[in-house]
Amino acid sequence: MEVSTSILSVKRDNCIQTFYNLETAGTDYFHIDVMDGKFVENNTVDLMTEYSEYLNSITNIPLDVHLMVEDVMSYVKSFLVFEPRNITVHYESAKDDKEILEWLSFIKENNCKVGISLKPNTEIEKIYNILPYVHTVLVMTVEPGKGGQELIPSTIEKIKKLKDYTKKQGLEVDIEADGGINLDNVKSLRMAGCNIIVAGTSIIKSKNYKKMIEKLKNT
Ligand code: DX5
Ligand code: ZN
Repeated sequence: MEVSTSILSVKRDNCIQTFYNLETAGTDYFHIDVMDGKFVENNTVDLMTEYSEYLNSITNIPLDVHLMVEDVMSYVKSFLVFEPRNITVHYESAKDDKEILEWLSFIKENNCKVGISLKPNTEIEKIYNILPYVHTVLVMTVEPGKGGQELIPSTIEKIKKLKDYTKKQGLEVDIEADGGINLDNVKSLRMAGCNIIVAGTSIIKSKNYKKMIEKLKNT
């Protein structure tokens, strides 16, 4: 299991020190939650731009960008500047599959991996046609919009279904789960077929980042 730490709840004051501590603690990725105030209520654009700038200059840990926005293309362009490992776009942001495929091609042409994300109520079958074109599926295990929520149990079944399908089809995709992940549910996510977890609150609120990340990886 790989761990992508969501930096949504990192306080501005001593953020550089926190990023350094997370790197030392062994996070595999930094998860950047970009919210535009339209696709979801919150707006994190300025904060996430500022944090990405810092991270880009102080660390080699790859950035995992999650776009919860309506105007996908303009945010793809503004976050490609930080040379992230991947950019993940939402299925629900697009008017049709054709538009999603255009976004994905544009991102890939810019030497960046791509992910497709879906909200808890969007059926997994909806993205089956897109699977051959993505590196990652980011399954939202809470409603997108804020940190600190509880994982919705039915999303675990969804991950299982996706894992079975990709196996049957011989597709190699990372399955990443995002929202409300902690030591109580990480095992069920691993068993369902998830190989990357996003965790914000459970890591940032812990006393010892290193111990928490190790436990999340090994539970
Ligand atoms: C929710 C975000 C998540 C989330 C992670 O919209 O995509 O990345 O904030 O934070 P926790 O672990 O607090 O749910
Ligand atoms: Zn996220």
